[in-house]
Amino acid sequence: MKGVILAGGLGTRLRPLTSITNKHLLPVFDRPMIYYPIQTLVEAGIKDIMLVTGGNAAGDFLRLIGNGSDFGLKHMNYTYQKREGGIAEALGLCRHFVGGDRVVVMLGDNILDGSIRKAVADFKSQESGAKIFLKTVANPREYGVAELKGHLVKNIVEKPRNPKSHYAVIGIYMYDSEVWDILKTLKPSGRGELEITDVNNAYIRAGRMTYEIVKGWWGDAGSSIEDLWRVNHYVGSKKLR
Ligand code: DAU
Repeated sequence: MKGVILAGGLGTRLRPLTSITNKHLLPVFDRPMIYYPIQTLVEAGIKDIMLVTGGNAAGDFLRLIGNGSDFGLKHMNYTYQKREGGIAEALGLCRHFVGGDRVVVMLGDNILDGSIRKAVADFKSQESGAKIFLKTVANPREYGVAELKGHLVKNIVEKPRNPKSHYAVIGIYMYDSEVWDILKTLKPSGRGELEITDVNNAYIRAGRMTYEIVKGWWGDAGSSIEDLWRVNHYVGSKKLR
């Protein structure tokens, strides 16, 4: 199982904090945001990780993370996304790295309290397909929103005006090697990006998507200044207790 962490994009919603640096290098309490997703993957036993970054401050990731020894890694792999072409475009840059393996993709601004170790093990024993994580939220319009039918996901809509549920699709996705063929079929969305929601809907249509509800706390630190503040507040309060 390979790991991919996506830390590209320009972080325009967090300007001026992101005017001269990358969003994922901003602090979340006592460490840079990017530390948290790396720790989540490493804790789940994923040691072979590629980090996708972009924008002007890309070199700072190398200075900060180096070969990953702070996380107990022997090596860290990096690649560069030239423009903000979307989450699915950024994932496509990792094809050569992942090869025929399965992959856990984590967005660099998503922070989890709990462990995904068991979910990774479950996905390893899943015959094929993909797995996503859902969390009930008060403001579903800001996320990809899943409509459920029994134990199946029926559909996901990216930032819907009229959400059909309160289940946000969080930024951790598990895929088999079919994902590379799906990526080839994608067309840019209205916002000009290749959407990860389109990848997930392709797996849903094929009947090969499973899901899990996240029990612990989850935060998206990168969507707005308020979100960054809320995540800092939660993580800081917990660490200070
Ligand atoms: O946080 C969960 C949400 O993340 C999901 O519910 C949505 O379905 C999903 O589309 C995504 O929505 P966001 O609007 O929060 O995505 P954002 O543009 O903030 O990108 C999330 C991360 O992906 C960001 O921290 C860096 C990476 N990224 C993003 C883009 C657009 C890249 O590496 N390259 C990119 O071109």
